[in-house]
Amino acid sequence: MNIQRPILGALLLLAALAWQPTALAQPASAPAASAPAAAASAPAPAPMPRPDQYSAKGADTCLGCHDDEGATYSAAAIFKTKHGHRGDKRSPFGASGLQCEACHGPGALHARAKKASAINTFKADSKVSLEDRNQICLTCHEGTSRTGWHAGTHERNKVACTDCHKIHQPQGDPVLAKTTEAQVCLACHKDQRSDFLKPSSHPVRQGLMSCSGCHSPHGSTAQAMLNKPTLNQTCYSCHADKRGPLLWEHQPVAEDCSLCHTPHGSVRPALLAKTPPLLCQQCHSSAGHPSVARTSNTLPGGTSGGAVFTIAGSCTNCHSQVHGSNHPSGAKLMR
Ligand code: HEC
Ligand code: HEC
Ligand code: HEC
Ligand code: HEC
Ligand code: HEC
Ligand code: HEC
Ligand code: HEC
Ligand code: HEC
Ligand code: HEC
Ligand code: HEC
Repeated sequence: MNIQRPILGALLLLAALAWQPTALAQPASAPAASAPAAAASAPAPAPMPRPDQYSAKGADTCLGCHDDEGATYSAAAIFKTKHGHRGDKRSPFGASGLQCEACHGPGALHARAKKASAINTFKADSKVSLEDRNQICLTCHEGTSRTGWHAGTHERNKVACTDCHKIHQPQGDPVLAKTTEAQVCLACHKDQRSDFLKPSSHPVRQGLMSCSGCHSPHGSTAQAMLNKPTLNQTCYSCHADKRGPLLWEHQPVAEDCSLCHTPHGSVRPALLAKTPPLLCQQCHSSAGHPSVARTSNTLPGGTSGGAVFTIAGSCTNCHSQVHGSNHPSGAKLMR
């Protein structure tokens, strides 16, 4: 592969500054500086790499040994991605970019020693700490959806960018495709894996939507890192018909969809959290109303009562407009 020699000494030094995140003039966004509680125990910033710590011929040096193709690594793969875009000056392979070393850090010593311990491998046992590994990516990607990263549950639970993102995969980064994203998430989120296998579920398994249809995996200030400030707003982004305005509102619907629905999966139809009439009777009295369905005991000829109207759909046999009604006489949510 014919990669141009990266840069002149001066540019190299500039780029070296850019690579070393803690040296950047962005005190406000540096985690240690903005978290007073952690300040006392925060490690001193790592010393800035000298230009001669970078390999002499950039990617050409690395590819001299790492030109192999495998299941998790392909030297050619990165040149097909946006990171390998040589016309984009923001990318590692853009003009004056540090190429492989933009992510892996200075590699001259490694190229001599040929030891994994001498370079940032992005693995759990890498010589570079998890925070610093994430900061390498954030240096170029602090903006857009990562503005919530430091508020998010994943950052707090020590999840790395590279737990989700694959940079060298021959088939591309699986987490970026709607059909393969969920598999990445479900590798850690086992409970959700079983939820999505239940008879009624959001069509994630079918590849019609993905976890990020509802969640911001990079973090958000909303409950459960939802995409919108509230749970209902998140649901309205696809189920706009449930938002109204309605002539006859059903109060719990406007308040919180999860009073009746589970978001991921349920053994009941329509993702219901409980089966009617119990679902409804959490809030409504069962007295003075058809509320007990006929069972084998209560069918005609049986010993006690029971209403035929509450079989199957139960309350919704009559109150079919549980989400609210726009009919002039829909006050009781029946039409
Ligand atoms: C002279 C050959 C040589 C050169 C040049 C070289 N490497 Fe390596 N590299 C190796 C060897 C050998 C290993 C495996 C070491 C081990 O398993 O302990 C390795 C391991 C690695 C690993 C860790 C792989 C793993 O499985 O954990 C990374 C990442 C890496 N090199 C990146 C680079 C980068 C980036 C460059 C250019 C700056 C580079 N290498 C230049 C020989 C080289
Ligand atoms: C945008 C950041 C980035 C750039 C640029 C980059 N890498 Fe990597 N590299 C990674 C990450 C992250 C991993 C960890 C595995 C993964 O996510 O695919 C990795 C893993 C590796 C590994 C270990 C592969 C394995 O089997 O686990 C080698 C070797 C490697 N990179 C070499 C290179 C070489 C050579 C270049 C330049 C041609 C390069 N990398 C450019 C981010 C980068
Ligand atoms: C030197 C800057 C730089 C570094 C370091 C860097 N990236 Fe990027 N990355 C870019 C640029 C530039 C793009 C293309 C952005 C665009 O087109 O909007 C990009 C694109 C991406 C994309 C989107 C790819 C796509 O196909 O849409 C992902 C995901 C990504 N980077 C993850 C990472 C991760 C994870 C790391 C750390 C291992 C990292 N990047 C390190 C510059 C960088
Ligand atoms: C929990 C998994 C997960 C983690 C951890 C994660 N990402 Fe992502 N990332 C995704 C998913 C899913 C997408 C595609 C959907 C989206 O944009 O929300 C994505 C998209 C991206 C993109 C391309 C789209 C865009 O927003 O520009 C970039 C760049 C990116 N991530 C960078 C990062 C960086 C940097 C980190 C670490 C600070 C990181 N990601 C950590 C899952 C993750
Ligand atoms: C490397 C493991 C890992 C991967 C991969 C991962 N997560 Fe997580 N996630 C965690 C951990 C750890 C927590 C915090 C503990 C918990 O709630 O289980 C968490 C928490 C969450 C939460 C709860 C947030 C809160 O504030 O309650 C959501 C939502 C979430 N992850 C979504 C995702 C999505 C979507 C993906 C895929 C794009 C994903 N995760 C991939 C490890 C992971
Ligand atoms: C239809 C929207 C939607 C989709 C799709 C979705 N989630 Fe959720 N998720 C939610 C809501 C809403 C909550 C909050 C539940 C609560 O707090 O009552 C949540 C909560 C979570 C939690 C926190 C723990 C919990 O159960 O309360 C995790 C972890 C999680 N989701 C992971 C995932 C993963 C992984 C995927 C993809 C496989 C996914 N979610 C897909 C809406 C969704
Ligand atoms: C990204 C879009 C999207 C978001 C956001 C979303 N849904 Fe859905 N929802 C769907 C799709 C697609 C279906 C399947 C529709 C179909 O099969 O016709 C669906 C189906 C449903 C169903 C019927 C399931 C069944 O088995 O009949 C319920 C109930 C539901 N969603 C509730 C919610 C709730 C509650 C929220 C908010 C936590 C939510 N949805 C957020 C896309 C979304
Ligand atoms: C009071 C309980 C309750 C609340 C609260 C509720 N639902 Fe429902 N929902 C139901 C019932 C019961 C069904 C099954 C309807 C049927 O059997 O006809 C249903 C069915 C659905 C369906 C599938 C059928 C259809 O009408 O498209 C969707 C989608 C849905 N709900 C979305 C939502 C959303 C979004 C919210 C929040 C804005 C919400 N629901 C709040 C009780 C509720
Ligand atoms: C989380 C509590 C809650 C659940 C669950 C719930 N409701 Fe309601 N429902 C209410 C509230 C609150 C009102 C408004 C009462 C009022 O205005 O006096 C209401 C009003 C109604 C009304 C109109 C009453 C009137 O006087 O106009 C009907 C009919 C109704 N609900 C049926 C149902 C059915 C059927 C279900 C089950 C599918 C259900 N509700 C589940 C809380 C709930
Ligand atoms: C056979 C049809 C039918 C079934 C089944 C039914 N309802 Fe009703 N419901 C009605 C009628 C008719 C009214 C209006 C009574 C009125 O206007 O005086 C009503 C009124 C209501 C009201 C308004 C307050 C009241 O008592 O007037 C609530 C709340 C309600 N029903 C809840 C339920 C719940 C919960 C269930 C299931 C356990 C249920 N209904 C099953 C026919 C039904």
